[in-house]
Amino acid sequence: MPLLSGKKILLGISGGIAAYKTPLIVRALHKQGAEVRVVMTPSAKDFVTPLTLATLTKNPVLSTFTATDLDNPIWNDHVELGMWADILLIAPATSNTLSAMAQGRCNNLLLAVYLSAKCPVYVAPAMDLDMFAHPSNQKNIETLTSFGNQVLPVGEGALASGLEGKGRMLEPDEIVAHLISHFNPDLPLNGKRVLITTGPTFEAIDPVRFIGNHASGKMGFALAKVAAELGADVILVTGPTQEKIDNPSVKVQAVVSADEMFEAVKKEFSTIDIAIAAAAVADFKPQTVASQKIKKAKSNLTIALTPTKDILAYMGQMKKQQCLIGFALETENELENAKLKLKKKNLDGIVLNSLQDPGAGFSVSTNKITFIRADHSVKDFPLQSKLECAHRIFEQIVSL
Ligand code: CTP
Repeated sequence: MPLLSGKKILLGISGGIAAYKTPLIVRALHKQGAEVRVVMTPSAKDFVTPLTLATLTKNPVLSTFTATDLDNPIWNDHVELGMWADILLIAPATSNTLSAMAQGRCNNLLLAVYLSAKCPVYVAPAMDLDMFAHPSNQKNIETLTSFGNQVLPVGEGALASGLEGKGRMLEPDEIVAHLISHFNPDLPLNGKRVLITTGPTFEAIDPVRFIGNHASGKMGFALAKVAAELGADVILVTGPTQEKIDNPSVKVQAVVSADEMFEAVKKEFSTIDIAIAAAAVADFKPQTVASQKIKKAKSNLTIALTPTKDILAYMGQMKKQQCLIGFALETENELENAKLKLKKKNLDGIVLNSLQDPGAGFSVSTNKITFIRADHSVKDFPLQSKLECAHRIFEQIVSL
């Protein structure tokens, strides 16, 4: 079931460049089952149109105290709006809106709704880095926090001014993840970012041929589904696969080669809480990729191979706060080999599956796993579906 099913979210938009991302907030909220209404400040309309938001929310968008285009003006009831909402989310909150909220000013409908709302208020500030760092803004944020408002952190990176730093509005998916945590406080992976690699990788020999393996990606997709159901925000980096997932909390990033998978993981790793490497990454790739299809003129062909990057070992080296879980697919000396990998790659746990076990391994929908922790304690599980295995793996991770 979507994690915001039946929730009523009132989205207040103030006039900053980040307002162009608000349709994505609406879409992400809808995907999670929420109903959305929008109140805008007059200047927000310079950045995103009311028509776009009215079309997406399927509700009228309000920005003035009265509807003025009628002979009989209608009062837009700010009290009713606040009463309707389960949460008021103000995103983006500009410096001007933050200061008006802190001081109780009321010169637009959004501020009137804020002042009269009894529901929890979430605020996603967005401004240039020096404005954000200015003591007056920091003080306003403190004041709003003291009122019981939840002021979300800002993101870091390129700003509209051309400068780089802290001040960007949190990304739509991250904002929605905060609201999900609010409504589902008991989910064990609430607010956690989970990175999962899955599937095979294909290493090109020439434009039509590649070296690959039989991995289906099923285990990683099952892990992604379970992680999302437990409240996590999931990034699923997958090699070529037939598997599909449609879950608003799962961002799928499709890659082909080990190099592409490595780059995708490297980009995300620093913000991740839990990483699980379920991919069957090719250990070798052709030293050179032929630019044209190799003709079969020769009777023998030797392809020189070179090792790919070990993505999990890289994560083990970079690890700070992350919980890191690997897989070990073994055919002999299973426990011993898995424990060696756990130590060598600096992991917190490793999931062992043996190709000796009938019903385990590639392509099939079942698996037989053993979970080994860093202290070398071992837990065996019977043959079960990959989805059930995913539940068992997360039970182990949560208990770590
Ligand atoms: N792995 C990885 N990048 C690689 C190779 C492996 O991230 N280039 C990860 C796999 O996703 C898995 C773990 O490392 O979580 C172990 O993979 P496995 O193939 O069992 O072992 P290898 O390290 O490749 O060693 P070997 O092939 O010698 O068993």
